[in-house]
Amino acid sequence: MDNPVNIRLDETLSFVRRRLPDKPEIAVVLGSGLGPLAEMIETPIRIPYGEIPHFPVSTVSGHAGELIGGLLKGRRLICMNGRVHFYEGYALADITYPIKLFKRLGVETLILTNAVGGINTRLAAGDLMVIVDHINLMGSNPLIGENNDALGPRFPDMSEVYSRRLQEVALKTGQEIGIDLKTGVYAALSGPSYETPAEIRMLSILGADAVGMSVVPEAIIGNHMGLELLAISCVTNAAAGILDQKLSHEDVKATAARIKDDFSRLISRIIEQI
Ligand code: HPA
Repeated sequence: MDNPVNIRLDETLSFVRRRLPDKPEIAVVLGSGLGPLAEMIETPIRIPYGEIPHFPVSTVSGHAGELIGGLLKGRRLICMNGRVHFYEGYALADITYPIKLFKRLGVETLILTNAVGGINTRLAAGDLMVIVDHINLMGSNPLIGENNDALGPRFPDMSEVYSRRLQEVALKTGQEIGIDLKTGVYAALSGPSYETPAEIRMLSILGADAVGMSVVPEAIIGNHMGLELLAISCVTNAAAGILDQKLSHEDVKATAARIKDDFSRLISRIIEQI
């Protein structure tokens, strides 16, 4: 365990374990505007990212930035309210540092969430989509560099990054609570500019149903370490050129806010079923 990342992880781990003594089972990463799920956590213990040694701190408005431990539907949860992004200038290794921490804390299941633009016209603003697979167009990979053998293999298989079992659980839960969950292939770009209409046409030809600027780095690292993964996207807008309208971060946040209750209800019911 002499990889420098493991030494940093040891320090972060002992700090977080002191503050959150209960071993979490499930980790949830909350994306843009999806923070209200955090309000449902019982007996919450909140730690601002800035207090956690070696933890990356986010700068974007709408990304609160705290780690929350507690119970949801009787399950021991650790929740990231806000994440850092590639476009903020962080290395993918730093963006995925919290995921490595979760594994070391004993987490077995990782739920990733984000906001996406809908490319496939089956998807409308306000829909929730289960990611079935992804296309990494961020131009990098969080596993570049010396492999951390303590965490996973050099060349990890990627044929089922998003657990089929958890996809089934999510879709069944959606049906039970009257939410018409969509499914789709997700393409991740670096951002921060939104895509051009020509880029969206290209992504559509490549087989992408939705586009965003996060999730993929965490998913690659989660898969590398053998976490069982579920990713749910909130479709906040039609991607560029799909409708005759411009994109704005304000609209993205407004749509996320509109569906936050459905989203929180869905995730909490899924957590109950896992
Ligand atoms: N493109 C990229 N990222 C996004 C979008 C989009 O249209 N909407 C929300 N996140």
